[in-house]
Amino acid sequence: MYQGTILKYSQYLSVNNQTPIISIHEGNTPLVPAPHIAKLTGVPGLKVFLKIEGLNPTGSFKDRGMTMAVSKAVEKGAKRIICASTGNTSASAAAYAARARGLGYELDCYVIIPAGYVALGKLSQAMIYGAKVIQIEGNFDEALNIVKDLSAKYPIELVNSINPYRIEGQKTSAYEICDELGEAPNYLCIPVGNAGNITAYWAGFKDYVSNASARPKMYGFQAAGAAPIVKGHVIDKPETVGTAIRIGNPASWKQAEAARDESAGLIDSVTDEEMLEAYRIIHSSEGYACEPASAASVAGLLKAAKQGQIMPESTVVCVLTGNGLKDPKVAMEQSDFKSAEIVYKADINEIAKALSLSSVLKA
Ligand code: F0G
Repeated sequence: MYQGTILKYSQYLSVNNQTPIISIHEGNTPLVPAPHIAKLTGVPGLKVFLKIEGLNPTGSFKDRGMTMAVSKAVEKGAKRIICASTGNTSASAAAYAARARGLGYELDCYVIIPAGYVALGKLSQAMIYGAKVIQIEGNFDEALNIVKDLSAKYPIELVNSINPYRIEGQKTSAYEICDELGEAPNYLCIPVGNAGNITAYWAGFKDYVSNASARPKMYGFQAAGAAPIVKGHVIDKPETVGTAIRIGNPASWKQAEAARDESAGLIDSVTDEEMLEAYRIIHSSEGYACEPASAASVAGLLKAAKQGQIMPESTVVCVLTGNGLKDPKVAMEQSDFKSAEIVYKADINEIAKALSLSSVLKA
């Protein structure tokens, strides 16, 4: 039986027989072909796959890192964990703390989030999993500074991606992609926020693919309004519809640049319009779902292809980092069929009219 990423890949992770494994069977997410997106790139012979990380237990890739961070926190006897979050990290931390409590460990979870900028799905998760949720007047970068200070001053384990076990756990997605494809892809397209995930994937590919020339080029994409790495300076007031990556001073900035440079990759930005266009394409033409920030990977691929930065006959994996159900507000705003917002009489003629069925009457 599949029992989560730690047991599957223990030889690559800092665990031993003494480590209490706090898992909710994260990982093992689908890698699915995206033929419509491949066609849209216009690149001959291109194969595009989506890594559906939104199908992790709490609906994002964060579970891979969190199973490691919480297991190691419990191993060392921690009673409290804390994180700053744009939403997904907090949902994941809250869930793994709940799991640990269910296994008999005492573990409180505190989360600090930017008020007004966390999608409803994520906020409700952190609450029902029993975290102590504190909203601040301020953005993610300010929240991260606060949790760093709190964990320095009080006995609280920090579980943001500056915790090395988070990065370690997140490497497992790269392992899965290689296992599934039988080799590494030529390109990995990924959204970049705090830059932990691009750092983790690159470390994972380096672990798993000994031949350096067979590793993928890492193509990271920030939102244009929150693109400090692209612009080369901290953004004080980051803004984007992809609230998950609304970050102006990424903690793993240098590591992300190293991943880019070592892999001969790139870190570029995509506008909110490009992100939302890709978001609609992923839903309406592939049948898969993701949250807005996740669509930066596909938006980035389309942009890179247009600029001639994707070779023909190659293989691309785009990481869809979070589940579409996390942010129902954006999903409803972006959908075409606005009549869903109107309530009709329960009358066949009115409904047939609303569905424009008159021209297709049965003979
Ligand atoms: N996609 C989603 C859905 C995310 O939630 C995040 C980060 C990223 C991409 C970017 O990953 O930070 O490793 O570069 N979310 C963090 C959070 C910041 O608090 O949930 P990154």
